[in-house]
Amino acid sequence: MAPADHPFWWGVSTSAYQIEGAVRADGRGVSIWDTFTHEPGRIATGETGDVACDHYHRHAEDVALMAGLGIDAYRFSVAWPRVQPDGRGPVNQRGLDFYRRLVDDLLAAGIAPVLTLYHWDLPQALQERGGWLDRDTAARFAEYADLVAAALGDRVALWITLNEPFVHTVFGYAMGVHAPGLALMFGALSAAHHQLLGHGLAVSALRSRTGSPIAIANNYSPVVVAGGTGRAEPWVGEPSDADHAAADAYDALHNRLFTDPLFGRGYPSGFDLPVADGDLEVIAAPIDAIGVNYYQPTAIRAPSTPDSDLPFDIVALEGYPVTDFGWPVVPDGLRDILTRLHRDYGRPLYVTENGCAYADTPDDQRRIEYLSSHIDAVQAARSAGADVRGYFVWSLIDNFEWAEGTSKRFGLVHVDFDTLVRTPRASYAWLRDRIARSRAEETP
Ligand code: BGC
Repeated sequence: MAPADHPFWWGVSTSAYQIEGAVRADGRGVSIWDTFTHEPGRIATGETGDVACDHYHRHAEDVALMAGLGIDAYRFSVAWPRVQPDGRGPVNQRGLDFYRRLVDDLLAAGIAPVLTLYHWDLPQALQERGGWLDRDTAARFAEYADLVAAALGDRVALWITLNEPFVHTVFGYAMGVHAPGLALMFGALSAAHHQLLGHGLAVSALRSRTGSPIAIANNYSPVVVAGGTGRAEPWVGEPSDADHAAADAYDALHNRLFTDPLFGRGYPSGFDLPVADGDLEVIAAPIDAIGVNYYQPTAIRAPSTPDSDLPFDIVALEGYPVTDFGWPVVPDGLRDILTRLHRDYGRPLYVTENGCAYADTPDDQRRIEYLSSHIDAVQAARSAGADVRGYFVWSLIDNFEWAEGTSKRFGLVHVDFDTLVRTPRASYAWLRDRIARSRAEETP
């Protein structure tokens, strides 16, 4: 079927810990992010997500904001500790009821619910047993997936198992800058394998509960080979063979490790993972689409010192405007990663996250330019044959941006974190008009 035969979904994306707050409401258990944010020095601003945007109590207002945009679909995540406070055992109905109400409201507003089961907020009780370093967490995740799917089943239009297992593994387990705050370097890789194992087990659990499509949302970054190893300016000199090898090693870690095994190709070589008999078959349970979270490419060259811990150096990608995060704005990277994923895996694609941190309010022209150029990149990928079925902006509202607290603002809608008042930025009206135009022209 040609891509044009599929409806194209415009959407926005959020995650539970970043917006919900209400961390003790209705029997919610403790998550690793509650623990982490309450440890001194972990969050740049000293904040926690205890209140965040208080979306738990203001979801009706937020759904109204979505309806005002005219979006087709909303991607949110379920907080595992609301549904299973300790990560195992019977369901906490009051926690699950919140998501039932949210789904009701979305459907009443004509917005398709896109549900992510895991956006990094593991129940703390499972962390006490090793978190994703413990193989049993994969089985616990499948049990939790089954409980949520039993409640919401076909009312969810698209199920997403995990959000960005790459970022969760590297930031949370290898470098310790996200919860659970472990700095295990390559020792973190078992957390990657167990997440993917949990994904595969969850896919099978979901299949028996729903006919809706199932996907995973990965963070993808096209790798740019930088030359001039050992020099101050990364762009001086032609890349050497060692630079190319370093870029390939990085690409394997960031992109292929989290995608090849989903499609029965096993892991790229060179990684030490605790793979047991049958695991790769579980991980390769068929999925219907790939979720693509895209923010920026990564520039790589060979390590500048022979005793480097890593087989690559990450260097600055010069010559592009940057967001408040310092991330280069490279829309072509989105086109490239979409066409590559289409070529290599041949599955439908959804851009499940794309957006930028700019504090500008109310007239955020840079966000408008960012979104406009990235939507053009999606269009270019579609024109080149990639089956891209949706584009979800990160994010609807300013929120708790992990280790940066509320200091990095990704919202189409500004949030005053003292009063929790929401005020749409110029980009909100721009996106609303952009969506309306695409409907009128019947093209993204
Ligand atoms: C995550 C979001 C995060 C965004 C911006 C993605 O890696 O899925 O939770 O807010 O990037 O940093």
